[in-house]
Amino acid sequence: MQNTFRVTLARLMAVVGLVISMALIGCAQPQDAHSSSEAAPSSSMVLDVSRAGQNAVAIDDVGKKTAMSEDGRLDLLVLVNKVHKIPERWEDRLDLVKVENSQGETVELDVVAAQAFKELQQDLQRSEGIVIEMGSGYRSVSDQKRMWDEYLEAYGEDYVYEYVAEPGHSEHHTGLALDACLIENGVPVHGIDEAFERQGTWDVIHSYLAKHGFVLRYPYGAEDVTGFAYEPWHFRYVGKADAKAIMSQDITLEDYLGNYGNE
Ligand code: DAL
Ligand code: ZN
Repeated sequence: MQNTFRVTLARLMAVVGLVISMALIGCAQPQDAHSSSEAAPSSSMVLDVSRAGQNAVAIDDVGKKTAMSEDGRLDLLVLVNKVHKIPERWEDRLDLVKVENSQGETVELDVVAAQAFKELQQDLQRSEGIVIEMGSGYRSVSDQKRMWDEYLEAYGEDYVYEYVAEPGHSEHHTGLALDACLIENGVPVHGIDEAFERQGTWDVIHSYLAKHGFVLRYPYGAEDVTGFAYEPWHFRYVGKADAKAIMSQDITLEDYLGNYGNE
């Protein structure tokens, strides 16, 4: 009886571990983290790709680089990291659209980033036969708190420090960041090891990011600057002009903004 209990418990823990790992690599979100079983609205089907921004960097009156979205709602160069919190009332300015992925999960992202991601997906599939989709997009502060607590319990402090932003400090709050999930033969590639085994494919994907306004936010070898371990799946929309400037120099958003947290 006791053994049966132990086996059942071990199986349960394995499933919990799998769900959490999947959340990390963007192929699934924690069950309670901003997924919704409600039907995806048609907005995901009517995205106007021509609205994707061609923004160029400007300097605001306190000397900070900015790049406003064409509709004037969002500074696409907003810096959110371990030092910088999401700005006050940022959520009020978001225009979130819902996109359903092949796993039947509904992921939310701001319309400007969602349009650009759709372009990126289509380009990759057409040009390279690579299929990606969104595993995670916008997360509220409370979504992030739930996720942070789950990871902390499952993996411990060191791991969380490397991979999970504290609530209020996640780029996912911006609605401009997403975790991409690689799909092979119609099946999502789950697991960190499995993701890293496909580094060649990620390299190809990364070579298309700037063209569509995205940057790789946590590059390999930049842990000291970004504060996070390499995440080949985490893309951030900044607009095409700035993405090209960042990716062509192989630098981080922090480098580009000249800001390492000490303003
Ligand atoms: N995985 C990134 C750092 C986040 O949790 O926002
Ligand atoms: Zn992410």
